Parts: sequence; C-alpha cells; structure tokens
Amino acid sequence: MVLPGFVHSPSTQFLVWAGSTGVGMYAVKLASLVGYKVVTVASKRNWGLVKSLGAAAVFDYHDPDVISSIKTWVQEQGLGPLKKGLDTISENGSQEKSVELLGEGGRLITLCKDVLILLLKAGFHLFVFSVPSPKNFDSKGVDVHRVLIYSALKPKNEDDFRQMVEWNKEILPAYLESEKLSKGVVPLKVFSGGLDHLPEALDYVRQGKTSGQKVVVTLK
Ligand SMILES: NC(=O)c1ccc[n+]([C@@H]2O[C@H](COP(=O)([O-])OP(=O)(O)OC[C@H]3O[C@@H](n4cnc5c(N)ncnc54)[C@H](OP(=O)(O)O)[C@@H]3O)[C@@H](O)[C@H]2O)c1
Repeated sequence: MVLPGFVHSPSTQFLVWAGSTGVGMYAVKLASLVGYKVVTVASKRNWGLVKSLGAAAVFDYHDPDVISSIKTWVQEQGLGPLKKGLDTISENGSQEKSVELLGEGGRLITLCKDVLILLLKAGFHLFVFSVPSPKNFDSKGVDVHRVLIYSALKPKNEDDFRQMVEWNKEILPAYLESEKLSKGVVPLKVFSGGLDHLPEALDYVRQGKTSGQKVVVTLK
C-alpha cells in the first residue's frame, strides 16, 4: 500500500481478503482513504459495514464461485488486473485464494499465521524479525510478504520502524484532525474494568464470536 501523499493511480484496485476482521476493517478504510478501489470478502451480514468503510465491492467468501465472481468484477471495471492485496486471514486457503486472484506479478501481504504457529511450536520467541516462507506454499509468481506487526516496533528494523513512527506522529493525527478518520469508525466490543477481563475477552475471540468488530480490553 502507498502512504497518503504519495502519488499513485486513483484507479488502482486493492484486495482485502476478509474486510470484516479487526484488521480488515481498518485496511478497507485506510486503503479507500488513500484512493484505492477496494474489493473485499465478508459474510453477507457484514456487507453493509464494509461498504460503509469504503469498499467498492464485496463478495461472500462462503460462495464456491467467489474467485470467478471477483475476477468477473475486476474485468468489468476495465482498470486492468488486480495486483495488490492484503490477506487478513492467512489460513484455511485464504493465501491460496488471494494468490489466485492476484496472479503472476502480484504483491500480497499476509499476516503469516501459519508461519507464526510453526515458529512458536519450534520454540521461537514471539518477537521474530525475519519470517521465512513456508516451503510448501506455491506463490505462483506472486510476491508474498509476510508481516508480523511486532517487527515494526523495533528500531533495528529501520524501514518498518520509520514508517510506524511516521504513521503515529504525522499521518494518523492528520487524518483524525481532518475527520477523515473519526472515532467509532469500526464497531468495538469493549471489555472494560481492567486486565482481569482479558481471559473473558480471549475466550470471546476463541469461541469465534468476533464478527465485524474490534475487541478492546481497557486498562481500567
Ligand atoms: N501478523 C500480525 O502482526 C497480526 C496482527 C494482528 C492479527 N493477526 C492475525 O490476523 C488474523 C485476523 O485477526 P483479527 O483479530 O483481525 O480477526 P477477527 O476479527 O477475529 O476475524 C474474525 C472474522 O474473520 C472472518 N473470517 C473467518 N474465516 C474467514 C475466511 N476463511 N475468509 C474470509 N473471512 C473469514 C469472519 O468474517 P464474517 O463474520 O464476515 O464471516 C469473522 O468475523 C488472525 O489470524 C490474527 O492472528 C496478525
């Protein structure tokens, strides 16, 4: 994705695989804000939500024909091929589906859950910086970039860290001030009363109850 202020074609399309996840809702909003035409997937109950965040088109990922439907939509737009995307699920075939949609020469960011699990099983600490590609994943000519948010928090990772600082110090405040990003942009599920409520929040997530909402645990 480009940062605001960088020039890019306003007609570039951007795939967010799963726009109704906690990560995906912000991704849809931010990608639309910088001018991408966003195509995403979600359950039908969340279509209104992702559209309100700026998605130009949304498809149901439960539909066995979802890939061909998205390809048809892309063709109908007449803007050329879909080449950039973010996979906010990164399991159960979502990487393969995203890769299929982007095709050779595409660029995909994934949240690398499968690799993370492998690393944790192997006893690696959570703060892992260089994430290897899983050997069994055929990326079909798509440049797949696996991202762990933690890597951006270390000054040692110069590029990621610089972008994180720039985002927090300049871009985010400017967006908030201009009201392009406002409070309550995504629905929140709040567990208030302090960290004692963390297990309750984790159970909520584990039980798969999150849908179209960001889970927040307050410190007090
Ligand atoms: N790499 C990192 O630094 C990083 C950071 C944060 C999160 N993550 C990872 O990112 C993933 C998403 O986290 P999150 O908190 O944003 O998720 P979440 O809000 O808990 O996601 C739940 C939603 O995922 C959707 N979903 C489930 N399976 C799907 C599939 N196969 N295709 C499309 N949508 C599907 C469902 O949407 P519907 O209700 O619409 O069906 C559900 O509402 C997790 O695996 C998490 O571990 C990684």
